[in-house]
Amino acid sequence: MFWVLLTILIFVVTLYYFYQVNKYKIIDDYPGPSALELFKFNLLPKSTVDSYNYFVSLNKKYGPVVKIWLKPFKPTLLVSDGKFIKSILLSKEHVHKPRYYSLSEGFIGNGLPIMTDINLWREERKIFGHVFNNQFIIDYISTFKRHARKLSESINENLNQPIDLQILLLRYGLNIVYDLLLNEDISKQDDRVNRYMESVKIFLELHFDRIHSPLKINDTIYKLTNNYKSWTKCCDEAREFVESTLKKVIKLKKESPNKSDRKDFIDLLLESNLSYERILAQLRTLVIAGSDTVSSLTSFALYELANHPELQEKIYQEYIAILGVDKNVFAEFRDIQQMTFTECVTKETLRLFPPGPFIFRTLINPTEIGGKIFPGNIDILFSIIDSHYSNFDNPTEFIPERFLPENAVKIPANAYLPFSLGPRDCIGKTVGIVETKFLLSYIIRHFTLHPISNHEKELAGEIILTSKNGLPIIFKKRID
Ligand code: HEM
Repeated sequence: MFWVLLTILIFVVTLYYFYQVNKYKIIDDYPGPSALELFKFNLLPKSTVDSYNYFVSLNKKYGPVVKIWLKPFKPTLLVSDGKFIKSILLSKEHVHKPRYYSLSEGFIGNGLPIMTDINLWREERKIFGHVFNNQFIIDYISTFKRHARKLSESINENLNQPIDLQILLLRYGLNIVYDLLLNEDISKQDDRVNRYMESVKIFLELHFDRIHSPLKINDTIYKLTNNYKSWTKCCDEAREFVESTLKKVIKLKKESPNKSDRKDFIDLLLESNLSYERILAQLRTLVIAGSDTVSSLTSFALYELANHPELQEKIYQEYIAILGVDKNVFAEFRDIQQMTFTECVTKETLRLFPPGPFIFRTLINPTEIGGKIFPGNIDILFSIIDSHYSNFDNPTEFIPERFLPENAVKIPANAYLPFSLGPRDCIGKTVGIVETKFLLSYIIRHFTLHPISNHEKELAGEIILTSKNGLPIIFKKRID
């Protein structure tokens, strides 16, 4: 009996497999790695560096549209092709994300970037879409100032010796976004912040291991594994990290309601009629989405400036011209808007090191792209990093001048997309850019940055781009 059932099962699975292969015949027009290569990639142990290099190498080897059957019955296309970017990312219809995004929900909360319930996403995106505008930033420049001063104190304690920018700025990014969103300065709460940062690190490792295992991806099976206990511990820690402050802030607001015109972020959320659980979920996600990304951007920017003394001098001269020689003068929003070269440095950093190098969409319905009809139920993995390499001359070189207005007009439409594009693009892009420009203007006026000889970055990451072997530089006090 067992053998009969097994034979029937194998027959049905094989039949289904060939049905799927036939259904997705159209993708056979595109090149891609062989089944054996993918099998090896899926099954062999790998690090975030291997995985990043593998996806980058696929576009280099096969071009802007690569067919990869990551899963046995559902194809994925890895693309950096402009036609796909235009037809999918810019369309109002194709805003769906793969279901496996919800795997990280327990840790980061079911907030905008990972929401798969599209009706709920549309409703909540409307609420958040316009919050992080220029006025929000102007109101919060004082928060940037306070945290920049604290960061500079930490740097002063570590002068003239190698310091890893990633470690330094991860904490800074977290402190600042927590303050912007929850109105609490956690920079003195070392134990609490360390616990949270440790759980982020552990969770990312567990998540990486899980999404690359055909078995562990299943909830029921995962609950039986040794990792499950650590996974739930990280999720509890992450929830508590945000919820403890949120509860306190809401209680205070109930006791003494804010009567002034200046509304903070929580006031806006409470007015929006979102339930407590939805406010908490969105805040948990925003804390992560708004800290790791900006930390990645600022770390790579300072690292590149340390390695390009001529650009460091040029950016410094911009600060002298706009802010004068008094280091204690902080940049205001209007000053930041005038910093053209700093903007170019920021954009070039985002081109070479996009904090989110790959993003997913799922095509639900059949769709025409470039004259071909693609059946529904395909995952599209957009390689932002490949678009940023294949559409620029001398792509591996750090050349901020390519973003000067007279040169930027030559960049092909939709080829530059560090914040994604279209209806599901980043809602925090203005905050991210202004925060970075502010930080550079403060740090470069107080310190000079110096490279560590022979350090070669090892890029890694499928979610947030990092350098596996750190981004060390040396800070010295600026004396001019
Ligand atoms: C340099 C900084 C940043 C970069 C490079 C960046 C990049 C991105 C990218 C590529 C996406 C699209 C993801 C996708 O399509 O799957 C995204 C979405 C998002 N980002 Fe950012 N981000 C940055 C900063 C921020 C900040 C500061 C916040 C908020 C405080 C934020 C909040 C969000 C949210 C909520 C979404 C989801 C939007 C949606 O799905 O409707 N980001 N970001």
